[in-house]
Amino acid sequence: MTTPYELITKEKLYAIIDTFYQYVEKDNRINHLFPGDFKETARKQKQFLTQFLGGPTLYSDEHGHPMMRARHMHFKIGQLEKEAWLENMTKAIDAHQLESELRQYLLERLTLTAEHMVNQYDE
Ligand code: HEM
Repeated sequence: MTTPYELITKEKLYAIIDTFYQYVEKDNRINHLFPGDFKETARKQKQFLTQFLGGPTLYSDEHGHPMMRARHMHFKIGQLEKEAWLENMTKAIDAHQLESELRQYLLERLTLTAEHMVNQYDE
């Protein structure tokens, strides 16, 4: 079966992630959460999204079980941070022009995952 990873292609996925962190770096709603140098974060995100989309298990091979929610617990992630993350990702995807069905599929899966990362709730 053809995987979403194959349909998107490695080249385009990696380009989207690089563009995404360029936007995040400039976004004062969330850039303070990151370590300053986005190189290593982008490298891990490439590994993770590769396996998330059905490609080789690059992330788990190096870091073990993803446990993404647990790995995000150190950071305050509320609705604002989630919206900022998704907005930057949507802009990055659109900068690289994915075919519309593939774009929708990817955004739906990333939205569900981003919602799962929320760990701060308003009253
Ligand atoms: C909802 C808003 C989100 C915020 C504010 C956020 C923020 C962060 C921060 C601050 C880091 C640490 C960066 C570092 O130390 O290098 C991180 C790591 C990471 N995030 Fe997120 N994130 C969000 C959602 C997501 C989503 C939806 C995914 C996956 C689809 C994701 C995947 C990752 C990965 C793979 C890492 C690297 C984990 C590791 O250190 O091994 N994040 N994120």
